[in-house]
Amino acid sequence: MTFEIKERDAAGRLCRFTTRHGAVITPNLLPVINPNKMMITPKEMKQRFGVDILITNSYIINKNPELRKHALMSGVHKLIDFHGTIMTDSGTFQSYIYGDINVDPLEIVRFQRDIGSDIGTILDIFGTPGQTKEESQQGTTETIRRAKESIQEKGEMLLACPVQGSVYPELREECARQLSSLNADFFPIGGVVPLMENQRYTDLVRCILAAKRGLDPSKPVHLFGAGHPLIFSLAVALGCDFFDSSAYAKYAQDGRMIFLWGTEKFDDLVELPCCCPVCSTYTISELRQLDAKDRTLQLALHNLYVSYAELRTIRTAIKGGWLWELVEQRAGANPFLFEALQVLREQNHLVWLEQFEPASKKTALFYTGPQTMYRPTVFRYHMRLCSRFDPLFNTTMVFPEGTKPYSMFYQRQMQQILTKKHVNFVVDSTIGPVPFELDEMYPLAQSVFPMSIDKETREITQHIMQRFLKTGKVIHWKEDMKLKQEKSKRSPFDFDLRRVSAVADMQFGRGASDALLNGRITIIKSKRTGKIRNILCDGVHVLSMRAEDGFFTLKLEGGRRLHNRLNYPLLRVVITNDAVPFVKEGKSVFSKFVSECDPSLRPFDECLVVDRDDVFLAIGRTQLTRDEMLSFRHGIAVKTRESLK
Ligand code: GUN
Ligand code: ZN
Repeated sequence: MTFEIKERDAAGRLCRFTTRHGAVITPNLLPVINPNKMMITPKEMKQRFGVDILITNSYIINKNPELRKHALMSGVHKLIDFHGTIMTDSGTFQSYIYGDINVDPLEIVRFQRDIGSDIGTILDIFGTPGQTKEESQQGTTETIRRAKESIQEKGEMLLACPVQGSVYPELREECARQLSSLNADFFPIGGVVPLMENQRYTDLVRCILAAKRGLDPSKPVHLFGAGHPLIFSLAVALGCDFFDSSAYAKYAQDGRMIFLWGTEKFDDLVELPCCCPVCSTYTISELRQLDAKDRTLQLALHNLYVSYAELRTIRTAIKGGWLWELVEQRAGANPFLFEALQVLREQNHLVWLEQFEPASKKTALFYTGPQTMYRPTVFRYHMRLCSRFDPLFNTTMVFPEGTKPYSMFYQRQMQQILTKKHVNFVVDSTIGPVPFELDEMYPLAQSVFPMSIDKETREITQHIMQRFLKTGKVIHWKEDMKLKQEKSKRSPFDFDLRRVSAVADMQFGRGASDALLNGRITIIKSKRTGKIRNILCDGVHVLSMRAEDGFFTLKLEGGRRLHNRLNYPLLRVVITNDAVPFVKEGKSVFSKFVSECDPSLRPFDECLVVDRDDVFLAIGRTQLTRDEMLSFRHGIAVKTRESLK
């Protein structure tokens, strides 16, 4: 098996996952195939939807003598005539629905192995939401015990070990941690079907968050029984990679159609609010005239089209950097989902989510409502403003929102004021206080807010401004204000140098500007845009400023200076000795060669690559979080840009 991150956004990832039966991209949906009654054959699924991974049930195959014989003789792939990746479930869900089933936990794992399943599932104990903590604990203990025993039997098959723990986050996290310490390959989050059936999405979100905290980040995570596309984007943003759907068939049998905003009874519809191939081929009255079996099939196909379309949308959003925008949009469709999204406002969850959030993005942040103020990237900006930004002067002048970039919009005012008085210039922006010198950094310049802002957001903004201004004197700027000439002699104020210094500290941490700018500084600007491009220190190129996001890229000399000044492990990615010659040649760092990493580095941060003795080797850009670098066996951890020969 290989599992490798290709693209990322929020705590979500777009990965390449390979098994003995080929490669699949994630996030993805495994349609449930009932081997007894295939409404849509796997072959047709492959043709229509490009399905290359599905899930079927080994308990059902095992119980039916004919299917059992056929599967043992020719394998499960021949049995259902599908040659992509097949996951099998174990009968846990049947025991939850029908009560006791007569299955031996080890026999069902051996059976899955023997029929050639690519991903088998242990017979876990389904933890229901109504359980007491003690009951739930007993269930997770037994699930973990079975996982240990089952792993001995898995052979070449990948083994899925579901995280249980009912609605108790501590139990979920601990169960996830213990399962992760075993040689398991795949982690479903189990016991959540009753939560989804009752639209208990806040509980669902808490279950996912708790499980993800405890899980090995380098293994695929599956949300067991999640078939409604309404919740896909949020689950993906929290780090789920796979879903499975029997919903497409169950809803169709019940005469219901799946839409992104929920479900509709076919009989209640006057027209088809969809243009999938089914809804484009038939009018609603033509669908009505079909016999029941045919109509059910068409509804099932529609349900799958809608589900797969949402997965395409989600993958596009991950690539484009607008997954949070999509999540917030979807949450607007359902009050329970809307409520669930607000769980993410809690400090401990924000802190957890922030570690995955890309340092910057290609696309602008779009405001969708007050929830936007709780995006990890906004949270990070507020944190860093308080911990990494040092105002230069005692007095701060606050300006109302203007056109971006603010330092350009208020250029004339700034120059006039500076002839009389030295103050800090800050815009009271919806995203929070924006010092003029940071106004080109992501997400400050790269964000779009409406002109009129709701009261809740305004209050959040004001709260942060108050925290930011709590020391020192504050003047609120007005067009016709009169300023007294300050008596004391002051050295001229170099705004460009101030920008370089402030951005360096915000990006690399306190002390970075002292390290990088200790010498005679030359700032080179673009002739075309007038923006800062390159920074030289004593004639040596140390930094370049990226036009897109206002962040620096490090030059080798900049890296050397940071390495000299900032103590281990700051900004470092430590690699093992066998990778050193490759990095010296300028090759990227693969995650399997990373032995340590500064936990404060975020994906797409500039970093220093060092060996185990902290000898500086290269500068590059991280692709993963620290924990990911330390657990993934495949994929790039750092894209090297320049290395010491
Ligand atoms: N299908 C839906 N939920 C579950 C679960 O918790 N465990 C297993 N094995 N299958 C499921
Ligand atoms: Zn349709």
